[in-house]
Amino acid sequence: MFKIFSQTDKQTIPASENSTILEASLKAGIKHTHVCGGQARCSTCRVSILKGLKNCLPRNPKEQGVAQKLGFPEHIRLACQTQITGDITIKRSVVDDLDIEIILKQIGDESGTQFGKELELAVLFVDIENYTQFAETFPAYDVVHVLNRYYRTMNTIIEEKHGIISDVAGDGILALFGVLTKRPNPVLDALAAARAMNRTLVSFNRYLDQMYACRFGIRTGINFGKAIIGSFDTGKMSKISAIGDTVNLAGRIEAANKDFGTRLLVSESAFQKINDPTLNYTAHQTSLKGKSGLHTLYEIKS
Ligand code: FES
Repeated sequence: MFKIFSQTDKQTIPASENSTILEASLKAGIKHTHVCGGQARCSTCRVSILKGLKNCLPRNPKEQGVAQKLGFPEHIRLACQTQITGDITIKRSVVDDLDIEIILKQIGDESGTQFGKELELAVLFVDIENYTQFAETFPAYDVVHVLNRYYRTMNTIIEEKHGIISDVAGDGILALFGVLTKRPNPVLDALAAARAMNRTLVSFNRYLDQMYACRFGIRTGINFGKAIIGSFDTGKMSKISAIGDTVNLAGRIEAANKDFGTRLLVSESAFQKINDPTLNYTAHQTSLKGKSGLHTLYEIKS
């Protein structure tokens, strides 16, 4: 007989050799969620193995399928499929109806996003350099209409280059590359998107010129590094977001364009990934808010 300590329930559960974590849990009277009845189809029984992962038998094909689809890290296991060979400590992930709703939404998501996983990705921040002036000059209706047209246009490009818009705020767009599908070099995708956005801006500006007698310029920052990816659900809407310093830094790199009078800056880590001997660039040294020391940013010219 092995012991499972459930940190969620503050209870030690006895488990016989051939039983799954879910069977042992239910036998001990724990209300362990298992919406699909243990068929490896809902993932609501998932647990975090806090201690004793080596005492869990490897994933069977059914569990492997769910784990792959949802991008589970090693320590997230389906309780209905996992048998143990020694003592373990677990934390149940689904404890109420709200958790069930969130998890079921994930299993229905076909994007293949690596939820809750740390990924290497490229983060692109872009904003409109003369937006404030535009917003102050024209009625709110026109501003919203133009922004919608701008978002729609830029989103098409970002998607074409295998990225997704994670967030928009005012005139700013945060896009992620290397999240939805595994790509050989997400920085090259982000750079291709930045270049295509600038090319498209020419025709966008023709429209603006004709309608409002003004033009937009855009400033872009690209960073590369690790970030945690999650599907964040606020009830009415859900979105895929990245959390981590890599994301924050991309915003600061974009803002540094103002200091240098540049349009497209990339971080050292992104520059290394571009690795193109024919690249036309200028290096700038700067301090970045919230980061110690001097950092080299690279202005990409064409
Ligand atoms: S109960 Fe549905 S996957 Fe385990």
